[in-house]
Amino acid sequence: MNGCAGGVSNLRAEQLSPLADWPKIHSVVHRDGEMESRIQQMVAGMSLQQKIGQMTQPEIKSITPAEVSKYYIGSVLNGGGSWPNGDKHASVSAWLDLADRYYEASMSTDMPIKVPVIWGVDAVHGHNNVFGATIFPHNIGLGAAHDASLVKDIGAATGKAVRATGINWVFAPTLAVVRNDRWGRTYESFSEDGKLVGGYARAYIEGLQGSFRSDANVVATAKHFIGDGGTSQGKDQGINQSGKAEMLNIHAQGYYGALAAGVQTVMASFNSWNDVAAGVDYGKMHGSKALLTDALKEKMGFDGFIVSDWNAIAQVPGCTNSSCPQAINAGIDMVMVPDDWRAFISNTMAQVNNGEIPISRIDDAVTRILRVKLRAGLFDKKPSQSIYAGNTAAVQSRDVARRAVRESLVLLKNNGGVLPLARDKKVLVVGKSANSMSNQTGGWSLTWQGTENINSDFPASDTILAGIEEVAGAEHVVYSETGRDVDPRQFDAVIAVLGETPYAETSGDIPPPNSLRHASRYPEDLAALQAVAGKGRPVVTVFLSGRPLFANDLLNLSDAFVAAWLPGTEGKGVTDVLFRDDKGGVGHDFKGTLSFSWPKTACQDTLNVGDAGYDPQFPMGYGLNYSRVTELGALGMDARATCGSATALPIFSQSERPPYKLYVSAAANRWDAQAIGADLNAVLNVPASRPAIRVQTIDVNMQQDAKLASWQGGEARMYARSELATDMRPFAADGVLQFEIVVAQAPQGMVALSMGCTGTCGGTVDLTRVLKGGALKTKRALKIPLACFAAQGVDLGKVDMPFSVLADQPFSAAFANVQIRAGAGKESDALSCAEVVPSGNGNN
Ligand code: BGC
Ligand code: BGC
Repeated sequence: MNGCAGGVSNLRAEQLSPLADWPKIHSVVHRDGEMESRIQQMVAGMSLQQKIGQMTQPEIKSITPAEVSKYYIGSVLNGGGSWPNGDKHASVSAWLDLADRYYEASMSTDMPIKVPVIWGVDAVHGHNNVFGATIFPHNIGLGAAHDASLVKDIGAATGKAVRATGINWVFAPTLAVVRNDRWGRTYESFSEDGKLVGGYARAYIEGLQGSFRSDANVVATAKHFIGDGGTSQGKDQGINQSGKAEMLNIHAQGYYGALAAGVQTVMASFNSWNDVAAGVDYGKMHGSKALLTDALKEKMGFDGFIVSDWNAIAQVPGCTNSSCPQAINAGIDMVMVPDDWRAFISNTMAQVNNGEIPISRIDDAVTRILRVKLRAGLFDKKPSQSIYAGNTAAVQSRDVARRAVRESLVLLKNNGGVLPLARDKKVLVVGKSANSMSNQTGGWSLTWQGTENINSDFPASDTILAGIEEVAGAEHVVYSETGRDVDPRQFDAVIAVLGETPYAETSGDIPPPNSLRHASRYPEDLAALQAVAGKGRPVVTVFLSGRPLFANDLLNLSDAFVAAWLPGTEGKGVTDVLFRDDKGGVGHDFKGTLSFSWPKTACQDTLNVGDAGYDPQFPMGYGLNYSRVTELGALGMDARATCGSATALPIFSQSERPPYKLYVSAAANRWDAQAIGADLNAVLNVPASRPAIRVQTIDVNMQQDAKLASWQGGEARMYARSELATDMRPFAADGVLQFEIVVAQAPQGMVALSMGCTGTCGGTVDLTRVLKGGALKTKRALKIPLACFAAQGVDLGKVDMPFSVLADQPFSAAFANVQIRAGAGKESDALSCAEVVPSGNGNN
């Protein structure tokens, strides 16, 4: 049973601009009178508890199938990096089993007409939480392909993979139109150009939803409504200060395409909108009736349901994770309340009973939810009844992905026509990302952040190195990560694979004062190129990044330079284009062109086609190919590591923040420190034989955001360090080193906190008293003024080790959100230097 008319919408909504108000959009999915009366009947037969249950979406880690039944739950989700039984390597059939169990639970309530649960998942570049699934390029790469039919194929392949695991709903596509590349979600965006996003939205949704007649169709989500890509300074969950014309004609373009294509759900955005010029502050999207109800549902005519984002209701003034009548009254129909769902249900029932939420609003929300479930055919089949159910092959579409990789590559430089490379030549491969599935797939890949993965976590995949070895012959290829231990002259060509390391959401933001200069965040990349350039052999750089970055120093050291974005599991798509085919011809030429403007200076964070004074290094639409040859001269250099003034400098926050990496070392092997990271399931013991410290990843505020360090006795430390020193003097006045700590076992000896600066300089404060005095198993934020470190000898002008914790006796604590924060020294809970003066040192 479904209500789709099929066919193509007659409204080319994305061509309507310039708009002055929210346009009416005609969806290809029409209302079905018979279905509507059935829904009315069902709603009339439901109790308040059953209705609120339908509106509630807990996370699979905090709800059992039995509870789904008991509380009449309408939906569950799994967050990024959440898998059945907490098993990262869960099989397709384990996913399916869990989906069946939730479904059966929902169909065995005491309701007169049972309503199937709908499970939502972030399948944002393929079914990326699932072990063994194909991971497609992130949206930024698809944007560069400028190929709507490719995007439709990816939508269809993703739908099939998701149905194989018994899931029916994806939280994709992201329709953000990103206008400031500091934003950590830039790679989730197709383009800075709203028109491209609108066309892709339509194609992607056609691929995912089809007409709900096939076993590969899933419900799609247009997210995040609205203006997520336009926040000031690209701050995640921040404030969009656009005027209405900009909101309608730039940021909203994706929704016109999505609604016309019949998208059935929309996710509200974490951000706020303050139309400063017009003097209208809409506040947080989750509390805005003007946008959710008046604009989206009424003016635009959206008749599916609106889901809130992860605990996002709590950001509406006056709300908490478990209570927000404001959001429901504003138009949220289903609430993503990962953990506090029990309290949410009882609070919301009370709010209906005392009149804070009109029952008509509840009935409308439930009507919309039932409508989507009926249209999607959920009442007809249980998850394992799809023809793809449990089929491991169905989670793979490697050919489509490989084609997508080929099409997404953008050739920025090809001096002397060094590309395409001939086969059967000797190739030196350098750079940290050549043999790294983790760097190749980026965020939202098995784990939320995309960190803590190793190559074997991706059984059906090829690294770029594997692609090179296949084409050139493994015996002709040498891989050296740093390029320092080999002589390039012994090879015919050098391929450097460099770029960003994974991140997702807020932890990917490049907050001011940091610049967009890649080499100041990843100095090792510049070093690798310096090791191989200028040695008489052509250097080809393949740059993996989630956004355009200032890279003129890297471009100048390279003969050819390819922006490859975050390509996913199919590294051979890169070598398909870099090398000649086996007959010596061009098998695959470059097709991609920039869908984001590429910066000419390190501080050009807002740089968009159409801007007054538009002055990019490479404009939107730029991209060379094998017939379009241009020689690029030396590009201008801008070595700025910072722009503007500082508010906070993250060090470890959800993940390591470049340029910092976390290490552990024990006194016994002080000079043999080990980097933390790599494998999520691993417990790092240092030294391995008789550990003085062990470190593992745990959750404090959110998935995998903390390191639990356990000192076993014997001196050892955990610390964050960078190859490059940072000038922290802008933070000197009232700045602090801040981190969250949950002490599991009180220190039996001393705990020292140090900061190091280039050379032998450094300074240490004593945390022993502060930690022994605090409660166990309670999170607290420690704020230690930078002045205390300066007083102990730290030169704040050249800090290369901003955080180091040392203990010499058993002690165990989780550490999260390590950062330098401006001004926080004035906060009342900041420590004073007197509280942390090292023993035996009377003055500070
Ligand atoms: C993200 C959404 C995502 C949701 C569920 C949120 O934090 O903003 O894009 O769909 O989590 O994982
Ligand atoms: C979840 C993500 C979600 C995020 C929001 C994480 O714990 O796994 O899916 O987007 O929280 O903050």
